[in-house]
Amino acid sequence: KKASIGVTGLAVMGRNLARNLARHGHTVALHNRSDQRTRDLVEEFGSEGDFVPAYSAKDFVAALDRPRQVVIMVKAGAPTDAVIEEFAPLLEKGDVIVDAGNAHFADTRRREAALRERGLHFVGAGVSGGEEGALHGPSIMPGGSAESYESLGPLFEDISAKVDGTPCCAHIGPDGAGHFVKMVHNGIEYSDMQLIAESFDLLRGAAGFEPARIAEVFRTWNTGRLDSYLIEITAEVLGHVDAATGKPFVDVVADRAEQKGTGRWTVQIGLDLGIPITGIAEATFARSLSGHTELRASARGLSGPSRTPLAGAEAERFADDVEQALYASKVVAYAQGFNQIQAASAEYDWNIDLGAVASIWRGGCIIRATFLDDIRVAFEAEPTLPTLLTSGDFRKAVEEAQDAWRSVVSTAVRLGIPTPGFSTALAYYDELRAQRLPAALIQGQRDYFGAHTYQRVDREGSFHTEWATEARAERPA
Ligand code: 6PG
Repeated sequence: KKASIGVTGLAVMGRNLARNLARHGHTVALHNRSDQRTRDLVEEFGSEGDFVPAYSAKDFVAALDRPRQVVIMVKAGAPTDAVIEEFAPLLEKGDVIVDAGNAHFADTRRREAALRERGLHFVGAGVSGGEEGALHGPSIMPGGSAESYESLGPLFEDISAKVDGTPCCAHIGPDGAGHFVKMVHNGIEYSDMQLIAESFDLLRGAAGFEPARIAEVFRTWNTGRLDSYLIEITAEVLGHVDAATGKPFVDVVADRAEQKGTGRWTVQIGLDLGIPITGIAEATFARSLSGHTELRASARGLSGPSRTPLAGAEAERFADDVEQALYASKVVAYAQGFNQIQAASAEYDWNIDLGAVASIWRGGCIIRATFLDDIRVAFEAEPTLPTLLTSGDFRKAVEEAQDAWRSVVSTAVRLGIPTPGFSTALAYYDELRAQRLPAALIQGQRDYFGAHTYQRVDREGSFHTEWATEARAERPA
């Protein structure tokens, strides 16, 4: 029997995707650069379904039914190009190559265009949910041609997570759309993680709670509107005690957050598109800052306010306020992320359905949360919504949360607890709702030093003021 799909690259993600496919009754061809991995998979998990191990690219391709569907799960960058070049010459018109890694969307666009010329479909598919997700049901974000989704879609929908019976997989749009959306997913993931980490820092530094107590707080939050995978695992991590020292685990881990690059890409592209994704940017920079060990050591002696933690009922109230600040900041971060997807969709003609993106992020992926169903509802009601912040329920929730939000940020500032995520989110909210921004003054400065001209609120056209002359006459530019 021929395989309906093949997976090449059998490290843990590829292996788990292959097993997931087989467990759903699909015959899966297997291939890996070194044969041992292929043999191991068949030996350990062969009983889970129908696998066709192949020990050469040629045998792998020969094992596949038409249109052949080859899923590549290798490292982003040069290794992906190498594998594409290994398989593309063996494939025929109409066959499909899927890159299921975390590729940069610009690479995906380049590869898609090149393979389209050769009559092949190239699908850049975002896959989220880590190892467990890949095995038990990830969220899948495939880009590429609509035609490729006809054969690939049913398989991917089958193995994806389900929420209320709806698969967490949908065709995102042409060429790089899928990888772009996955990249923003990761950017939002950074932002969510940073906001949760700041909440922890505040509950400890300002309310004086111990990690075990904070774990309880997160557990409670997880029963409400913040219900999400990241809050759930945060409670687990905070509740964990290090066996060797008996200390809270979080106190024995080096405080340097690492990153593999998707957050950084999101920020870089946010700048290119001119979309202020400040929540993601601060989260990414916060990780960078944490890693500057020597810089931090040299600055550790800088003075700050003395901290007297809140106590009793005040501390309890503060914890409630942090929940509200976290919620409001999260709405801002998602609003920004969706704006970035909207902008890229317009720029590249992807025609991305934002409601569908929210829908497939409800399950399987790292940022999965009940909150995403509210976002789905908002975009389904108004697909061209300018910002989540103005959609009915979110607007109301954020407006109601804002007193607490402001109070938390002020407390943080007063006590010297860094909250880049909360603060930038609040600043963004205040910038968006401002009647006037000081950008007018910046235009004046630019015109002063560089004759860069400005526009007026009361007349059409561009103007320049003769700053060097006493009269400071204004003339049309
Ligand atoms: C996912 C994750 C995954 C990756 C993390 C880690 O959606 O399953 O996002 O793609 O493991 O993004 O990224 P960093 O190492 O950059 O934190």
